[in-house]
Amino acid sequence: MSKKIFSGVQPTGNLHLGNYLGAIKNFVELNNEKDNECFFCVVDLHAITTKQEPKELKKNIRETAATFIASGIDPKKSIIFNQSMVSAHSEAAWILSCVSKIGWLNRMTQFKEKAGKDKEKASIGLYSYPVLMAADILLYDTTHVPVGDDQKQHLELCRDIAQKFNNDFNAPEFLRLPEPLIQKEFSRIMSLKDGLKKMSKSDPSDLSRVNLTDDKDQISNKIKKAKTDPLPIPSELNDLSQRPETANLLGIYSSLKNQNLEKSINEFNGKNFSEFKKKLSEILIEKIEPISKEIKKLLKDEKYLDTILLEGSQKADEIASKKIKEIKKLVGF
Ligand code: AMP
Ligand code: TRP
Repeated sequence: MSKKIFSGVQPTGNLHLGNYLGAIKNFVELNNEKDNECFFCVVDLHAITTKQEPKELKKNIRETAATFIASGIDPKKSIIFNQSMVSAHSEAAWILSCVSKIGWLNRMTQFKEKAGKDKEKASIGLYSYPVLMAADILLYDTTHVPVGDDQKQHLELCRDIAQKFNNDFNAPEFLRLPEPLIQKEFSRIMSLKDGLKKMSKSDPSDLSRVNLTDDKDQISNKIKKAKTDPLPIPSELNDLSQRPETANLLGIYSSLKNQNLEKSINEFNGKNFSEFKKKLSEILIEKIEPISKEIKKLLKDEKYLDTILLEGSQKADEIASKKIKEIKKLVGF
């Protein structure tokens, strides 16, 4: 069966290995499956839920599109576009926010993490962010949404919102309930400096992540400095449970090699970290350096990137504007 795929990445800079292994690598595989219809969206409306510098935002929108293409998404096969160019996203988000319950949004853990201690000072946009995400997905009758593990709760909410809308307006199956596509293993890549913290764009330490624009030397330096523990690589999976940094580095290695954790443990069992880190750097450089070089090349051609986004937005708009018309009709407008 052909799938309709939708996913989004925020243009907030510093796209990293976690974004790649948790999401973008999967986008490329879905792009390559024959009959899929794929939408990969640069979610700039989501980006402004926290303060952005306008010039930086513009640069980051192009950089995110360049990262998609450099990673292997073919703009002739998949639709690459930015959210703010398709007005149906904002319109649908408002309508859906009127069927969503405050109680549902109050449970969202990402808001709690991002808003920090002083929730009164967070923007309303940051709070209602998952409703906009539901609008993104539901406008395209999406069947599958590839994301990292941290987006699971938002997808459950999306299904609740769709169901509530269909019930409220007596339109069974009008909004399609999407399935999440979350990798079984390695769906949460952790910081290189703290195995209990997610690898994140906003971590003040650049050494905590491998950026997709890092060159060979930066990658090997970051792996050299990555936190480990004093023990050698274990021989049993169970021995990793109390060793988050080791588990994370072996997870990164396994994911890049497309092999399971057991196979990697067997490869390095009993060896010391310097040997493992050397191999890890090698595979990272092999996989990430070509992407990094291609991103830099593409960024020099702003016109090309702007054309991809414009053409993608036109195609997305054709589909989304039909759906929002139907939504408005059901609501009674
Ligand atoms: P964001 O950068 O928040 O727009 O995230 C873009 C995609 O990358 C989403 O599907 C996230 O779930 C995924 N992602 C972000 N950080 C990580 C991470 N540390 N590990 C795995 N996936 C991640
Ligand atoms: N919220 C997602 C994130 O931060 C990005 C996103 C926005 C998204 N809209 C989406 C992901 C729709 C999947 C589908 O990672």
